This record gives sequence, C-alpha cells and structure tokens, in this order.
Amino acid sequence: MHDLRISLLDRCNFRCPYCMPESEFHEDYEFLKKTLRLTHAEILQVASVATGLGVSKIRLTGGEPLLDKKLPELVRGLARLPGLEDLALTTNAMLLAPVVQDLADAGLDRITVSLDSLDEDVFKVMSGGRGDLGRVLDGIEAAVRAGFAPLKINVVVERGVNDHTVVDLLEHFRGTGHIVRLIEYMDVGNRNGWRINQVVPSRELLSIVHARWPVRSVEQNYPGEVARRYEYLDGQGEIGFISSVTEPFCGSCTRARLSSDGMLYTCLFATKGTDLREPIRNGAGDEELSDILSRTWLQRADRYSELRRPDVAEHHALSKVEMYRIGG
Ligand SMILES: C[S@@+](CC[C@H](N)C(=O)[O-])C[C@H]1O[C@@H](n2cnc3c(N)ncnc32)[C@H](O)[C@@H]1O
Ligand code: SF4
Repeated sequence: MHDLRISLLDRCNFRCPYCMPESEFHEDYEFLKKTLRLTHAEILQVASVATGLGVSKIRLTGGEPLLDKKLPELVRGLARLPGLEDLALTTNAMLLAPVVQDLADAGLDRITVSLDSLDEDVFKVMSGGRGDLGRVLDGIEAAVRAGFAPLKINVVVERGVNDHTVVDLLEHFRGTGHIVRLIEYMDVGNRNGWRINQVVPSRELLSIVHARWPVRSVEQNYPGEVARRYEYLDGQGEIGFISSVTEPFCGSCTRARLSSDGMLYTCLFATKGTDLREPIRNGAGDEELSDILSRTWLQRADRYSELRRPDVAEHHALSKVEMYRIGG
C-alpha cells in the first residue's frame, strides 16, 4: 500500500452521466449526512497511520473535493505528515480558481483536472448539464499561476458522446506541458448503465493519435503507474492512456481508498470495505487502527478488472461501490 485516495464527500456540483447520472442523483437523492462523514481530524488520523505504514502518496478526491470549504486546512494538516512525499487533488476545477492559491500555500503538490471535452455542447452533456467550461478553463489557468503546472488532465472517453472531440482537446494541450490522460469508460458502481460498446479501447485511440501526431511509448515513472505513457515525436509533450477495461493492471495496484463515510476499500470495484469510522469513534488508537489497515491490505485478493467479463458486468449484478463515494 503506497497510495491512499481519500474521498472527502459524496456530493458533487456535476452530474457526469458515467459517474452520477442525474436520473439517479436527483433532487431527492439522500447524500451522506455530515455526522456520518469522517471529520478532518478523523481523516488526519487515518492518513497519519497510513503514512506510518509506508503510504507516501495521498490523493484527495470525491465527489467534488472543492465542495469542502475547509479543504486548505485539511491540506495543511496532511502536508505535515512525515513520510508523505506527494499530496494531490482530483477535481472538476469548476470551483478551483478562487482557492487554488490557498491550496498551494497549504502545501498541496499536484492537481489533476477532469475535463472531458472542449466542445461546449459535449462538455455540457458530459457534466450532466451542470458544468461551465469557461470556469473550468479559468481554474486551469489559475492553477498554472499558482505553480501547479504541469497538470494532469483526465478525459473519460465514451463512444458516440465525446470521442470525436478528443483530437481537438489534445491539440489544445499539446505544447503546454500538461499531460492529457485518456481513460477508458469503466463499469464502476451500478448506476451508470455501463455497456462494453460505450468503451473506446485505448489501442483504438492510440492509433488515431499516432496517425495525427506520431508518438512513442515512454517508460513508467514508477512501478504500478496506471497510465501507459507516450510522448509526441515532435517534442510537444506527453499523453497517457488508462486502460482498466481492455488492459487491466490489478497485479501491480498499490492503492487503498477511503470513502467519505470511513470505509477502507482495496479495489475500485469493491463490493465491500472495512469500516474505520466505528473503531475511530469508539476510541481506537493509532496502534489498533494500524493493525486494521495492515490486516485489510494483507488479506486483499482483488483482481476485478482481470476477471471482468463484459457480458456479466453489463448486468450490474454485483453491488459495487459507486465512484463518487469511493473516489476516482
Ligand atoms: C469520481 S471523480 C472525483 C473527483 C472530481 N469530482 C473529478 O471529477 O475530478 C475522479 C475521476 O474519476 C473519473 N471517473 C468517474 N466515473 C468514471 C467511469 N465510469 N469510468 C472512468 N472514469 C471515471 C472522473 O472522470 C474523474 O477523473
Ligand atoms: S466524475 Fe467527478 S465531477 Fe463528474 S459526477 Fe463524478 S464526482 Fe462529479
């Protein structure tokens, strides 16, 4: 376990159809009550125990982590943890511009922005009608001014929805230093109605990209890196492919995930997790928590993506935890 992803809250200001479709996450949908969410102090306790066990990377995610108004305070606390080498945030960037300098001052190291298209209409669809492209682009610029360049830009590619806008998006970011990562649409959770024919395999995208701007593959930055890295031969930068559907990488996965209600999951496609909130609220000390964390990790045998059968996955029969809860 090298990498801990913390989902700060299950709410989001977007309704991306592949993650939180409006039909399911409507006005009456009951999100977690505040009392059921881990407090910042509780998150810090888990993070501190995790770094004590060797976790060196923490990513804050959600839901939309910027809906947490006290995020800079949490970042400040996390950034002080001994052993933590990399503190990152994944966000849709709509609320980023006003807080990004505070996040930098608090010690955040890196930002990944999710942005599925630069075509206004397609972007609207991919954000469930809630996103404002101009504000997201302002967020990106503000992040650059605050010293976060290069950013990673995550693009979920869905066939027939935004795949025709991928080349334009790559063109926009070529030469900026930002690293666009094209992500296969995954069957996380059970609510997005995933179908295998909505997935654009990375190798198909790679050949489209390569035909336009020749690329060559580059070594992994570190073992267990999920994105396959490529660089443009003309020196205009790097792109990544995340192919969890067509080329699973369960064997090298080093990630644990903490949901906003304090469940620890050892796989993105998990059906059950380990409750940390109850022991914490019953007064568990660091040693007890450390035992729970290491036991959970050592017992893991997850390899969902390697075993996935699309015909079975399409039936959404397993009650997998949702992406907005577990954090992407
Ligand atoms: C769940 S979001 C949480 C953070 C933030 N709201 C955001 O969108 O960046 C984290 C990442 O998961 C990705 N994601 C969500 N649902 C997905 C799916 N079904 N397949 C692939 N990626 C998905 C999003 O595109 C995003 O990059
Ligand atoms: S992908 Fe991120 S922005 Fe989109 S609905 Fe999920 S949590 Fe919200």
